[in-house]
Parts: sequence; structure tokens; C-alpha cells
Amino acid sequence: MVLQASALLNVATPERNKWLKGKSIVAISQFDPSGTAYTFDVAEEYREIFADNRRRLKEILFAFQLANLFFEPSTRTSSSFASAMFALGGDVISINGVTYSSMEKGEDLIHTVLTEQEYVDAIVLRHKDVGSAAKAAGRLGIPLINGGDGEGEHPTQALLDLYTILREQKRINGLTITLIGDLKRGRTVHSLTELLLSYDVRLNFVAPEVSRMPVHIIEKVKASGVPYQEYTDLHEVQKTTDVFYMTRVQKERFDSEEEYNKVKGLYRIDMAFMAGIKSDAKLMHPLPCLDEIAREVDVHPNAAYFRQVGNGKFIRMALLAMVLGQA
Ligand code: NCD
Repeated sequence: MVLQASALLNVATPERNKWLKGKSIVAISQFDPSGTAYTFDVAEEYREIFADNRRRLKEILFAFQLANLFFEPSTRTSSSFASAMFALGGDVISINGVTYSSMEKGEDLIHTVLTEQEYVDAIVLRHKDVGSAAKAAGRLGIPLINGGDGEGEHPTQALLDLYTILREQKRINGLTITLIGDLKRGRTVHSLTELLLSYDVRLNFVAPEVSRMPVHIIEKVKASGVPYQEYTDLHEVQKTTDVFYMTRVQKERFDSEEEYNKVKGLYRIDMAFMAGIKSDAKLMHPLPCLDEIAREVDVHPNAAYFRQVGNGKFIRMALLAMVLGQA
């Protein structure tokens, strides 16, 4: 049975058809509750067709081409965009890492994307610099999707995260959502927090002093009126949380190994912790997961992070069809 996101969220989606046509997706602020619900409805429709008769999807982006430009490491974001494009009948050019592109020879980002624009219909970009996606999008005549800009944003991840919360809990309003780990340097928690501010939720931020949620995000939370609290001890919110969103300590974004060592290993979710959570609470993680979740938790029914991965494919199918004017 298809999940009617807009109905579940009680959000109307009038005139949302083709609203993203030709547009870039650089920040999560582009998605209001109606645009978000529309995206989820398209993703659900594609999920159902994919399960039923996936060949029917092949016409949607037939003969369209995407360039996947990943200048920071990626497994899920790059694979899911490629898989999404293939599922809709399109084709993908992949550039992974500066080393194997002309950026290694000194070409800058703008010339790189202006070049790719001559070959393809849309670009997904992951780059280490905050603001790189917006900068590149500003120079392009085709849609650019931000696949992560350093410590900045990861808007498509936030959409698949919220979609996962909705699928797992069948609601968003009324939930207590706890974000844990490197809230300062992790871009997924920045975009997800901002997206959640449009809903009737309660937020907990669990992080050590040196990895607290950045002030500019806290300011947005305050302005929204969404109740929130900051903690250093995860156990304080163990029994009141509906969704735990664990994150990796972003080693590559620390100034020194010494700083990193102070933070790594502070939070770890294991089977003993899972035994003390609400029976219907869910555990999410954008992945990659190092040792912040014990491997035996992978098979716990409330561990939702691999279902979350799968949801990413359908959200990216929806977004690609939308920016290319086909949904
Ligand atoms: C995250 C990212 O790249 O920001 N991964 C992802 O896209 N699913 C999380 C991380 O790297 O920790």
C-alpha cells in the first residue's frame, strides 16, 4: 500500500506539479511542507511502480543525462543518484575525486561545471567548500543538486531522512527527535534540523562541547519556536526519544588529530542501550558508521539505517524527475 505522505502530513500540494523544473537544489530552505510532501508523494509513486513493473519507469528520464561530480568521498549519495537515474531510464557520467579530473591539472570548479553542462542535463556536485554548490549553480543554465558542500548542507539527505522518519513512525508531528554526535561538522544534521523546524516536533541535540550545533542553526531553531534542548549525556534522553539520529565524528574536518581524539568514541549505541529505549523508537544514521553503533545493532528491528539508505534511491528518483521537468 502506497503511503500518502501529503495526506498523512495533512498538507495540500496544489500546483506543485513541475514546480522544481529547471531549478537547482542547493539548500533545504527551498522545501516548504507542501514541496516536501509533494516530493514524498512522487517518491512513493515510483516505489510502487518499481516494485510492480519497473520497466514502466524507464520512459520517465529516457535520453536524459546526469553528471555525478564527487570531489569528496561518497558511497551512498553517488550510488543512489546513479541508481535513481538508471531506474528512470537515464544515463550517468561519473567523476570521482579531483585526481581523475582536470581539477588535478589546476582547472577550477566553475570551468569544470561549465564543461559538464555542455554534455548533460543536470549535475550532482559534492565538494569540500561550504557554498560551492550555490556558487556553481549560479553560473549554470541546467539544474545542479548539492550532494554535500563541506560542513554546509546536504539537502537531499535531509529529505530522505524526513521521509524515513515518516515511513517508520507514520507521522512527524508530535515526535521527539534526538540528534547525536558531531553536530558542528556534520552537514546532514544541519539540513535535517532546518527541515524539521516546519513541523510540530521536539529536538534534542546531544554532543560534546567542541562539537555542538553551530550558533547559526541554533538561532534558526529559536526563531522557529520548536522546543529544543542541548545535552552531553545521551542517557538523559534514552527513554523519551522517538527517533535517534546518530552521526559519525567527521575526522577529516578536524584541525588536528588531538582534537579528534578528544571527541571520538564518546557516544556508542549498543544492544544494552537499545534495550532501554521506547519499544517503538527508531535508530537512524546517514552512514558511514564507524564504531558509534555496535555492529550487532544492525539486525535490531528498530535499527532503520539500511531502510533509510533504500529510501534515498526513491527520493533521488523523485528529485531528478522534478528538476528535469518530468514530475
Ligand atoms: C554523510 C555525508 O557525506 O555528509 N553521508 C551521506 O551522504 N549519507 C555523512 C558523513 O559523511 O558522515
